[in-house]
Amino acid sequence: MPNLLEVKGLKATYGPTEVLHGIDFGLEPGRITAILGANGAGKTTTLRAICQMVRTAGSALFEGQQLVGRATEEVVRLGVAHVPDGRGTFTALSVEENLRLGAHVRRDKDRIAGDIDKMYSRFPRLGERRHQQAGTLSGGEQQMLAISRALMLRPKLLLLDEPSFGLAPKIVAEIFRILRSINSEDQVSMLLVEQNAKLALELADQAYLLETGRVAMAGTSAQLMADESVRRAYLGV
Ligand SMILES: Nc1ncnc2c1ncn2[C@@H]1O[C@H](COP(=O)(O)OP(=O)(O)O)[C@@H](O)[C@H]1O
Ligand SMILES: [Mg+2]
Repeated sequence: MPNLLEVKGLKATYGPTEVLHGIDFGLEPGRITAILGANGAGKTTTLRAICQMVRTAGSALFEGQQLVGRATEEVVRLGVAHVPDGRGTFTALSVEENLRLGAHVRRDKDRIAGDIDKMYSRFPRLGERRHQQAGTLSGGEQQMLAISRALMLRPKLLLLDEPSFGLAPKIVAEIFRILRSINSEDQVSMLLVEQNAKLALELADQAYLLETGRVAMAGTSAQLMADESVRRAYLGV
């Protein structure tokens, strides 16, 4: 089967500064892929480049369609949903209003209510707080809302930027368990960016290691987990 996303020679620049220097990677459909790397390696920029939220050059083919040069909204319409770092929920709106906003580009309006109920069954904490202002949720609940809002697009590919950041291990375990079930039950492919390499490799099927805007290593999660340099630099073992 061809890759869902095929990235070749992708560059990204902020003003005069190039921070992705032509990276290559592919995502297999139905899989979870992780991008690992130290702070500043270019992980967030890679997700922004796929979404066309930063100036890019090179190629990113999603189901054969070129993303580079499109508007972000068009990338979203093709089925790519982004859960940005810092979550980006609308704090003044209720949980349910956030979920409705997540579906705003969808044409099948009659299925939205059913999908909102599905999010509440996946994330019961959100159901209990459906009328609560998003800004008053705990960090873990806000992350759940950010993921649910992205899923309201019915995306084929979910981009996740450090979903574990700042959360207690117990909440992280709960969120990662739900991500796994969304992947296996709804066949949503995922590209997961994490500084927490252990967590990411446990969830993902394959992984890429970014070092200062370049792909330094690629393989299955098991291969990276077994690699001596990865173990020393990123797993602390
Ligand atoms: N808005 C920005 N303007 C200028 N430089 C940026 C901006 N955002 C990130 N950078 C730089 O780009 C590089 C990659 O950053 P980023 O993609 O955020 O890394 P990571 O997510 O892996 O920590 C870093 O050197 C960072 O300082
Ligand atoms: Mg980042």
